[in-house]
Amino acid sequence: MEHNQVRPYQQTDISKKQEVTSMFDKIAPFYDFLNGFLSAGIDSIWRRKAIKTLAAKQPKSLLDIATGTADLAIEADRQLDLEKIVGMDISPGMIEIGQKKVQKRGLNERITLEVGDSENLNYSTGSFDAVSAAFGVRNFENLNAGLKEMHRVLSDNGQLLILEFSRPTIFPFKQLFNTYFKYILPTIGKLTSKDPKAYKYLYESVQLFPDYDEFASILKEIGFKKVTWKALSLGICTIYHAEK
Ligand SMILES: C[S@@+](CC[C@H](N)C(=O)[O-])C[C@H]1O[C@@H](n2cnc3c(N)ncnc32)[C@H](O)[C@@H]1O
Repeated sequence: MEHNQVRPYQQTDISKKQEVTSMFDKIAPFYDFLNGFLSAGIDSIWRRKAIKTLAAKQPKSLLDIATGTADLAIEADRQLDLEKIVGMDISPGMIEIGQKKVQKRGLNERITLEVGDSENLNYSTGSFDAVSAAFGVRNFENLNAGLKEMHRVLSDNGQLLILEFSRPTIFPFKQLFNTYFKYILPTIGKLTSKDPKAYKYLYESVQLFPDYDEFASILKEIGFKKVTWKALSLGICTIYHAEK
């Protein structure tokens, strides 16, 4: 099975994109709480570390793809001296929650949130110094199309930042984490998110998704250069950094 064949609901009459959109629309009200709860708050440390990799080159504009409830965009605003921040996502439900959060923090002049499809971006070529995606690319229906679009909208030498789940490899952490990720997390997710499938999909989609060197090779094939990666929390997730 190819990674993009892993879908939340496995319905035959609609696309993965439609399934992913309706899943995130459904879980949007619970998403922030569950992120923090299921990762014991570590997810915000991962985002902080990820944004830090962009700092040295002092980007002035950032496009955060699959921004969801805008946590990475907000972290970018906190750490970097950005003049333009755009967050985009295919799920109107996630954007709505993100918009409320941005407004509440008085950041609506600084962060623009928009609904859109990462595989067909509505931005001109070379228009951003940095493009990011946290836990987003795994959900794309067509990974190559999404990555090509990220490459296109970057300015020359612009930075790509991807934060994505990976599969821990170190014994016995690998086995322990797998038990949590495969059995405990979907059970908590089922009871709290009102979508029985969403956190099962999370586990399944990570199992087939390319990670570490394999994902780095895909980025190189797309045309990215200076591709590096750094595993976080014993390999639960990985920061990929590259340039156009
Ligand atoms: C796990 S959430 C991550 C949200 C956020 N980046 C974070 O760090 O919490 C994945 C997001 O990817 C979005 N997504 C999936 N496919 C997409 C696509 N083709 N275009 C834009 N967004 C997409 C979903 O709607 C969802 O909000």
